[in-house]
Amino acid sequence: MNATIATLNEYVGQEITLNCWLYNKTGKGKLQFLQVRDGSGLCQAVVFKGNVSEEDFDAGKELTQESSLQLTGTVKAEERAPGIPGGFEIDVRALSIVQIAEPYPITPKEHGIEFLMQNRHLWLRSNRQWAILRVRAVIVSAIREWLDGNGFLNIDTPILTPAAAEGTTTLFEIDFHGEPAYLAQTGQLYNEAHIFAFGKVYCFGPTFRAEKSKTRRHLQEFWMVEPEIAFCDLHQLMEIEEQFVSHIVQRCLRDCKDELEILERDTTALEKVSGSFPRIHYDEAVKMINDAAAAGTLVPGYEDVVPTIEWGDDFGSPHETYLAAQFEKPLFVHHYPTQVKAFYMEPDPDRPEVCRSVDLLAPEGYGEVIGGSERMSDPEKLIAAIEHHELPHGAYDWYVDLRKYGSTVHSGFGLGVERTVAWVCGLSHIRETIAFPRTLGNMRP
Ligand code: 4AD
Ligand code: MG
Repeated sequence: MNATIATLNEYVGQEITLNCWLYNKTGKGKLQFLQVRDGSGLCQAVVFKGNVSEEDFDAGKELTQESSLQLTGTVKAEERAPGIPGGFEIDVRALSIVQIAEPYPITPKEHGIEFLMQNRHLWLRSNRQWAILRVRAVIVSAIREWLDGNGFLNIDTPILTPAAAEGTTTLFEIDFHGEPAYLAQTGQLYNEAHIFAFGKVYCFGPTFRAEKSKTRRHLQEFWMVEPEIAFCDLHQLMEIEEQFVSHIVQRCLRDCKDELEILERDTTALEKVSGSFPRIHYDEAVKMINDAAAAGTLVPGYEDVVPTIEWGDDFGSPHETYLAAQFEKPLFVHHYPTQVKAFYMEPDPDRPEVCRSVDLLAPEGYGEVIGGSERMSDPEKLIAAIEHHELPHGAYDWYVDLRKYGSTVHSGFGLGVERTVAWVCGLSHIRETIAFPRTLGNMRP
């Protein structure tokens, strides 16, 4: 295998050849300091006039930002240069240009977000974007590692679906040969068929919601992992979620040190994400919010007072931010009002106005990262719920069928990958958590 910047530690004292791009450069006279990146990382290459041919020295001077090049040199352990993790340097012996890049639109100076989003195809090369998407890849890997290692079978679910699962107001409709079809909002309903065949399953794929408002937390297309478990109730579900989320966060802390350093992420709060998480009932959450509102308490990180809430309403993001800030670890809020949740959630048998649902709220203002629940297991109750939500009957016959042949209590949840990336990386907006974000009114490039 060829040396890469990520593996320079294995080549100290040896001569290597690297295919790379110029990220930045400084120097004068007889010395050029090239910051180069090869996809696996960033490092400094030092070109000293006495060490290379005249032709190669001139080639170094000619390099513009993002030019592609090949360099050969000796790897040296070096004190960390500012902003460059790793601690290795290359003492260049030979250098050749592959292509001199045209003037690059994204320079080390600050650019506005709109300009950067229009140039997302190029912006991805920047150090911060590189770090974020690497963390994302580790999160995805940790998700699969935990589920595969704990007896969950990965079975994917359709993207083209005939009916809504998470409300009819956020559907993307397309034409399926003359019949309306919708891009999947969730794989859950199909997951529920899978558990009766395989016990514990998960689906993992893109999901689509025509969200009508622009927020820092919503995308039109996002990735969701959805575990679903037979013979599992709400309390067992929370235990699974806390182990799963702890594993993901701890894997990032272990494997993404350089990336989190580039992002200047203070990891103190993330380090506490392990063991069991606090749990509060929706009733208690409403009381906490209204007490804080009455006392004029500010939403942490904002200048606004915590807004009041009426029992029965869903939380807004200031409510979630306030609630989560009262705890050190991610917070479970369970038993939301039935009226604000999806049709398939099991109502509490003693208090049908609340349901056996649970959301997981991340600390530090990141809000809901997981939504989940116990599912309705009685066919008659489910038919009534479908009618109550005025959903087209015929489209759900198969789903009701699942409750007729060995129905059992079962539960599942969905974790949003992008919300998790924003939280772990400490980002104020979800748009940087996916390579090519689809936000309201924007799907280019
Ligand atoms: O709470 P939601 O809507 O739950 C479901 O879709 C269930 N069917 C999941 C299940 O039980 N199998 O969405 C789950 C998670 C949210 O907690 C959030 O992390 C993410 O998906 N999410 C979004 N992420 C980005 N942009 C959006 N528009 C999102 N909508 C939901
Ligand atoms: Mg939700």
